[in-house]
Amino acid sequence: MIFTKDPLAQQSADYTAKARALVAEMTLEEKALLLSGDGWWHTHPVERLQIPALSLSDGPHGLRKVEGAGLSTSVPATCFPTASALASSWDTELVGQVGAALAEECQAHDVQVLLGPGVNMKRSPLAGRNFEYFSEDPLLAGKMGAAYILGVQSQGVGTSLKHYAANNQEFERMSTSSNLDERTLHELYLLAFEIAVKEAQPWSVMAAYNPVNHVYATENSFLLQDILRAKWGFEGFVVSDWGAVHDGVAGVNAGLSLEMPGSGGYLRNKIIAAVRAGTLSPARLDEAVVPLLTVILKAKDHKRSGVAFDAGSHDALARRAASESLVLLKNAGGLLPLDFRRIKTIALIGAFAKAPRYQGSGSSQVNPTRISTAYDELVKLMDQDTIVRYAAGYTKEGTTTEDLIEEAQLQAKAAEVAIVFAGLPSNYECEGLDRSSLEMPAGHNQLIAAVSVAQPNVAVVLMNGSAVTMPWAEKVKAILEAWLSGQAGGGAIADALAGRVNPSGKLAETFPVRIEDTPCFPDFPARTKEANYGEGIFIGYRYYDARKIAPLFPFGFGLSYTTFAYSELRVGATAIRETDGVNVELKVKNTGPVAGQEIVQLYVHEQRSNVVRPEKELKAFAKVALRAGEERTVSFQLTKRDFAYYDTYRHDWIVNPGKFEILVGSSSQNLPLGHTLEVELTKPDCAPLTRYSLLKDFENHPKGKAFYPQLKEAFGLGNPDEADMATRAFLDDMPVYKVCAFSAGRFTEEMLREILKEVQ
Ligand code: BGC
Repeated sequence: MIFTKDPLAQQSADYTAKARALVAEMTLEEKALLLSGDGWWHTHPVERLQIPALSLSDGPHGLRKVEGAGLSTSVPATCFPTASALASSWDTELVGQVGAALAEECQAHDVQVLLGPGVNMKRSPLAGRNFEYFSEDPLLAGKMGAAYILGVQSQGVGTSLKHYAANNQEFERMSTSSNLDERTLHELYLLAFEIAVKEAQPWSVMAAYNPVNHVYATENSFLLQDILRAKWGFEGFVVSDWGAVHDGVAGVNAGLSLEMPGSGGYLRNKIIAAVRAGTLSPARLDEAVVPLLTVILKAKDHKRSGVAFDAGSHDALARRAASESLVLLKNAGGLLPLDFRRIKTIALIGAFAKAPRYQGSGSSQVNPTRISTAYDELVKLMDQDTIVRYAAGYTKEGTTTEDLIEEAQLQAKAAEVAIVFAGLPSNYECEGLDRSSLEMPAGHNQLIAAVSVAQPNVAVVLMNGSAVTMPWAEKVKAILEAWLSGQAGGGAIADALAGRVNPSGKLAETFPVRIEDTPCFPDFPARTKEANYGEGIFIGYRYYDARKIAPLFPFGFGLSYTTFAYSELRVGATAIRETDGVNVELKVKNTGPVAGQEIVQLYVHEQRSNVVRPEKELKAFAKVALRAGEERTVSFQLTKRDFAYYDTYRHDWIVNPGKFEILVGSSSQNLPLGHTLEVELTKPDCAPLTRYSLLKDFENHPKGKAFYPQLKEAFGLGNPDEADMATRAFLDDMPVYKVCAFSAGRFTEEMLREILKEVQ
């Protein structure tokens, strides 16, 4: 089942009309009541008008409907892999199915809005919530986010796309301003939101805790009105992150519709007073209420009673999702998959084998319906006479002792192969805290190194929500990145180790060699309340490409138990107009012995740009299942936006005419197919000329160039074509208004005004 559009979208206009009619009947007090929540998880009902309460719960990778007092107990729900795992599947259809299953659990528990997905960028690998986010690449994060939203909303349950915007560090997250330039904002930090809003229309967007360029996201009319509504056409309501409202009236004026949790009359009274004092207009108040009421009415109609979800089939889906997310990082000598007909003694080392790490801490923490462990699931797949040796290797905190190491080495030595389970303990990845290091606990690293001394056949299985360093990578034969793979991750890991599943995931984030190599080192997290995004548009692979820094494992990388060959790249044209689309086709073949899936990636590189651009950017991808020996054609459609950059002068996406390379392959660093395409402009896209334009701007402007000889003549430095390089450079960069001063009266302000009129 592919979720392509919100089946409820057509009805949106009707709900909006009904909401408007209801708003016309509401008193000021009732409107103000609606705009601040009733406690932590509901809006206020308005009984007089039969407006029910809306129930909102976290998200994103499972339903966390809080029960009882406090925030720590929630109803049992399926814990799916977290976003960093799901993104490694690069499988939008699968993410849609997970979304639909999540929505079914929401229906069963009377929840109308699920608080997710989170599409923030991974600016630093140390950011504490990276496990909850998809990628360092905005296209991949946006597509995953859109698929999730379409899946959830297909079942009549809403989503809340979060955390809008530039919410990239946990340290002092409620007060640190994310300071970034307009181009960086659009090309990286807004793009995933833009894709998700335009493709999937989430019922709500959650405004983040942080200020963006010193204006709180909840009060930021540039973000909430100019971009979200005016540019992207968002129709839902904006809810604050929990506790992110500062000046609530300013929020409502800027486009906020719902304060969460409710402030028990505090904001309500301020709204009433502001309307009476004229600092909040009645029309603006209505504009805040309408989108919220629209969703309340829509949710009311789509609420299904008596829904019970099948925990078994959801667990099976969670297992499949975990399998699709596994990334095989190394497999020297084909150590994996393990042949259990041949292996008679196996050592399973590391406490995570029996007590897995499978989700992160904080508001997304789900109370799982069941948990599978890799240990139990592997035992199920072995022959009865296979001997399993086990050693915990480290403590819950990740430390190790001589005794634990000795025991692990003993067990590893006595086996034919050792699987070490390691990663990050739960206190290493938690909402509200950034990681202090890129390293795994010393105990985990020491254990892997020690086991590899005792046993030549070592495979490491990693359980972590974001990138880690691997000082032992050369010493082991295989590495399987399992991420925080949800409640059924143990089964998925066992399936992959035993060859019942062929790993097909690819990294949605770069694994750097060391923290010193990362884009915002050493200023992450910012500790001065000012997070200055000095690296600009260069994060993730865009940064490593630009700096020519070799990562440990690059973006898009992942191995398989089979091999794939790429051929016959065909691009629909050698030259295109910037308004045309272009079709790209290629062939991919499974050249190995077993069935597998390949994630085909397409990047675009601009050959010679007049603005700084990343070396290449991901523009399309597809996951293809192929039997052994099978070949398939994969096609992509590129549009103008795929060649564009964000121009801050025109506040728009602009394409430079010139040569672009289309690169296709299996990872950001393995792109065997390439094709050069000429992009031509139908209408030259020049910045308008003003008195501050440079002389060279006139020379390069279609209308301005007619006046260029006159201007350079008036300058009085002879013919710059014959002048020396320094004079030429001096003239090129001269603002045109200066010609008036330099020309000793030959060229006047009046003449300049006339020229400027003619070149518009
Ligand atoms: C988190 C949100 C979450 C909300 C409700 C906040 O602290 O940032 O992601 O949805 O709490 O639990």
